[in-house]
Amino acid sequence: MKKFFAILMAFVMVLSLTAVFVGCTTNDGAEDTTAAGTAAGTDADTAAGTENDAAEKPVLKMGTNAYFQPYEFYEGDKIVGIDAEIAAAIAEKLGMTLEIVDMEFDSILTAVNEGSVDFGMAGMTITEDRLLEVDFSISYANGVQAIIVKNDSPITCADDLYAEGANYKVGVQLGTTGDIYATDDFGSENVTTYSNGNEAILALLGGSVDCVIIDNEPAKALVSANAGLKILDTAYANEDYAICVKKGNTELLDKIDAAILELTEDGTIAGIIANYIK
Ligand code: ARG
Repeated sequence: MKKFFAILMAFVMVLSLTAVFVGCTTNDGAEDTTAAGTAAGTDADTAAGTENDAAEKPVLKMGTNAYFQPYEFYEGDKIVGIDAEIAAAIAEKLGMTLEIVDMEFDSILTAVNEGSVDFGMAGMTITEDRLLEVDFSISYANGVQAIIVKNDSPITCADDLYAEGANYKVGVQLGTTGDIYATDDFGSENVTTYSNGNEAILALLGGSVDCVIIDNEPAKALVSANAGLKILDTAYANEDYAICVKKGNTELLDKIDAAILELTEDGTIAGIIANYIK
C-alpha cells in the first residue's frame, strides 16, 4: 500500500494535469480497502487512505467489539468481517467514509447514546431491553446462541443445564444476550462474565467454567481455533442482528434502513455473508 502510494505520488507529479482524475480513481480504490478495514489504528497506510477520503467525505463512526469472528475481528491491525464489510457498503451508499472504533461490547450502547460513535454494529441482537435505550435498524442477519463444551463434558444438550441440582458454571461475554439469558436461567452465581469470547474459552479449557454460551458463528471460529471443544447440537436461542443508533435519530436510521434494503435486494449482503460463512 505504501509502495502503491509512493508510485502514485510519482505518477501524479509527472502528470500534474491529470492529477485530479488519477486522484479520484485512487480514492475509490483506497476506500474499498480501508472502509472495510479501517480500525481506530493509525498505521501509515490506513492514515493515507482515510486522509484522502476524509477530504471529500464526512466520517461515519461505527462502534463495535472486534473479538467476534466472522462478524468483526482483527486481521493484522485492521478490523474486517461481515459487519465491517456491510457497514462499509452502507457508508458508501451514504457518501461517507467508515471509521470503526473498537470497544468493550457492553460500552457500545452508551457510546451510541453519547454520540462518540454514530451507530453500533456488533452482531448485536435486537432485544426488548435494548430497544428502551437505542433504536434498531431492520435486521441484516440471524444468530443462534450456541453452547460450547469440552469434548468429554457430561453436558450433552441444552436441557442438561436445567437438570435438577446441575449447577453447571457458564461462561459468557459481558453484556451479551448469552450473559443476559444465562443469568436469568441459571442465576448470576452460576454465570461468569468475560470481556470477550476468547477469554471465556480459556476459562472453559482451564476448567473454571463447564460451558460457554455464545453466538454460533463465533462459536464455530472459537472451536476450530482450540482443540478439545465441541458445539452442542441443541441451540440455546434464536436471534436477529441489527444496527443500533441513538434513540430518536430517525434521520440516520432511515438512511441505514434504506441502504440495508438495497444491499439485501441486490444480493450484496448475502454475498458478504457467504464469503465468511461457508
Ligand atoms: N448477539 C449477542 C448480543 O447481541 C452477542 C454479540 C457480541 N458481539 C460482539 N461483537 N462481541 O448480545
